[in-house]
Amino acid sequence: MPNTADLTSLRDSLPSVTGVFPGPKAQAILDRRAKNVPSAVLCNYPLVIKRGQGAMIEDVDGNRFVDWVGGVGVMNVGYGQPKVVEAVKNQADNFFHSMANISTHKGYIDLAERINALAPTKQGVNKTMFVNSGAEAIENAVKIAKAYTGRSNIIAFSGAFHGRTALTSTLTAKKTFSAGIEPAMGGVYRATFPYLYRAPKGYSKEESIQYYLDNIQYIFEQGVPANQVAAFVMEPIQGEGGFIPAPFEYVKALRKICDEHGIMLIADEVQTGFARSGRLFVSNYWKENGCAPDIIAMAKSIAAGVPLSGVTAGVDIMDKVQDVIVGGIGGTFGGNALACASGLQVLDIIENEKLADRALKVGKLAKEGFEALQDKYEEIGDVRGIGSMVGLEFVKDRDSKEPYPELVAKIIQTAVSKGLVIEMAGVKSNVIRFLCPLVVTEDQLNAGMDILDASIQESLAELK
Ligand SMILES: Cc1ncc(COP(=O)(O)O)c(C=O)c1O
Repeated sequence: MPNTADLTSLRDSLPSVTGVFPGPKAQAILDRRAKNVPSAVLCNYPLVIKRGQGAMIEDVDGNRFVDWVGGVGVMNVGYGQPKVVEAVKNQADNFFHSMANISTHKGYIDLAERINALAPTKQGVNKTMFVNSGAEAIENAVKIAKAYTGRSNIIAFSGAFHGRTALTSTLTAKKTFSAGIEPAMGGVYRATFPYLYRAPKGYSKEESIQYYLDNIQYIFEQGVPANQVAAFVMEPIQGEGGFIPAPFEYVKALRKICDEHGIMLIADEVQTGFARSGRLFVSNYWKENGCAPDIIAMAKSIAAGVPLSGVTAGVDIMDKVQDVIVGGIGGTFGGNALACASGLQVLDIIENEKLADRALKVGKLAKEGFEALQDKYEEIGDVRGIGSMVGLEFVKDRDSKEPYPELVAKIIQTAVSKGLVIEMAGVKSNVIRFLCPLVVTEDQLNAGMDILDASIQESLAELK
């Protein structure tokens, strides 16, 4: 077991990778992984973690990395938060699990109550149910919307990622996630996501937004009539799709369309939630702009790495479900006691440590660093994001905007070998995403930026 002095020094340390990477201990485990775990559970990095603290992780050979991925948006409050660890240990002393259908535990109710008070849905007076993963949250959100509206069709977006289950891989745009496992779920239609960087050439922002809104009318005319649509499912900032924020002007118009036709707006805040954007949810910004969603699906950073996800919606919507699908939402592990204990601490930490403000500060510093790199490298076509959810899109040239996935793949592998963990995103695999734990120090952020710069330079030299 690591001693506290070790953990403190890891929290404040800087990246360092020495000798061969991966080291011998990591390599031995990776070899066993290759023999025992299917390759379709992708192994993107030769990184074998031993422990984590703050925004830093240490591998089994003692190498240290600044982590800009955070378990893909799970570690917003940082690794090894003492209060989270203590709460989970205390809960473990009492009991691990109590199935919500059988015996109620207070942690579930406490967490539901707090999220209900905080979640910026349109109705504002909420109920919350818990499940285990992002995909399950989306599955349940869709069931709730269908039950409430009595309609069976859903509109998702180009570039969307909502998970890997049968329904959510149908909702997900990139078909490498579902090709070969057909049939897909029926009743799913796809609108074009308002991707401003790739709007028709020469269009102003307003013209681009109108262009994307026209696509919705086209779907109503030639895909599915509006009065047969239960919900739009939208990521407020697309994650896997390439870190693309939906312009608030577009969401306002979409909200109006939903209201005109009795369609639910589901915000998939699985990756964007829990202070990442500078608010608890991006839906807070939506609400400020008069376009709050009806239903919010959340997961990832909700419980700092203990599996938990949730769906929050207005009381009227939630209370209708039982009339339609009796006992049809939930599941054995949903709202697990260890996870709820952790989730309550996460909310305290976000509040007490002002993590939403911290997300704005870290995001500003990161964006400034990325924009400086954009001035230096023609291949960075776009830098975009909200708060600390920032993406860099790489292109072969700024005029054609042809995606440059080979460069991104090389940069990522080079960076990890130097002590920076970054991840790819985008349907064309040409975006690097910034999803760093919000507790990262300025020195760690700068060290990561230097590694990124060196990795871009080296990767470009190799490709030319
Ligand atoms: C926006 C979004 N929705 C849903 C999911 C699926 O979550 P999970 O992998 O926990 O099922 C993800 C995962 O990356 C996501 O980013």
